[in-house]
Amino acid sequence: MTIKEFVAKEKQALSLDVSGMERKPHLVIIQANDSPASDAYVRGKMRDCDEIGARSTLCLLPPTTEEDFLLQKIAEYNADDDVDGLIVQLPLPKHISEAKVKLAVDPKKDVDGFHPLTTFIPCTPKGIVDYLADIGFEFQGKNAVVLGRSEIVGKPMAKLLLAKNCNVTVLHSKTTEEDKVFYIAHADLIVVAIGRLGFLDQRFQYKESAVIVDVGINRNEEGKLRGDAVADLPVAVQTPVPGGVGLLTRLALMKNLIIAAKNR
Ligand code: GUN
Repeated sequence: MTIKEFVAKEKQALSLDVSGMERKPHLVIIQANDSPASDAYVRGKMRDCDEIGARSTLCLLPPTTEEDFLLQKIAEYNADDDVDGLIVQLPLPKHISEAKVKLAVDPKKDVDGFHPLTTFIPCTPKGIVDYLADIGFEFQGKNAVVLGRSEIVGKPMAKLLLAKNCNVTVLHSKTTEEDKVFYIAHADLIVVAIGRLGFLDQRFQYKESAVIVDVGINRNEEGKLRGDAVADLPVAVQTPVPGGVGLLTRLALMKNLIIAAKNR
């Protein structure tokens, strides 16, 4: 089953779930940047809400917004009983502390899963694991390599795969090329999230049975969206970009939103 088919099937189930809820889940998205990429992500998330019958509100602030003003907005939505999920789209303008913003969101509404006390699984790792489970990937005892150690993908991904009983190795910019070659050759699952166009290519050897999950979103010379892996590597499964992990992340956000609404 392709990711598109998987997401369509899961969204149908979510729609059915929401149709039985008296109060429709409500997601608030605060966006304080003017990034075209964020615009596209935010539109996608709002369309997803529409599609499953949830409500969404966009609070669009200029990139010149003061940190205090943003924190005050977050406090208002935290206190608003009609809001189930609250996310602040990243990246934030440089003068605003991402750490403070993440801490400011009420953990009960933190459907991105960014707060240290959150009970929500961050969306990209959750979306990936749900998909892998659906295609029958058996996690226990498998060698999982995570490339990249970002706060929103690499670190939570490694933690979740460890909870699934994988043998997890996290590789990063300070890992030697020789070690990358070694670990990648032994990997059953490779999750690549480093933001480097076509980083995973034929110079590495892969297990034929390996699964590559490509979290990268890069533009090639022609301006087209491409991942951190070149297409058609000699493995069993490789997720596409576009039409891959981005859709899984959005699906996981909708699942978290429904959980938040049901938890109240
Ligand atoms: N920017 C890129 N990915 C994400 C995400 O998952 N959540 C938020 N809030 N911002 C992002």
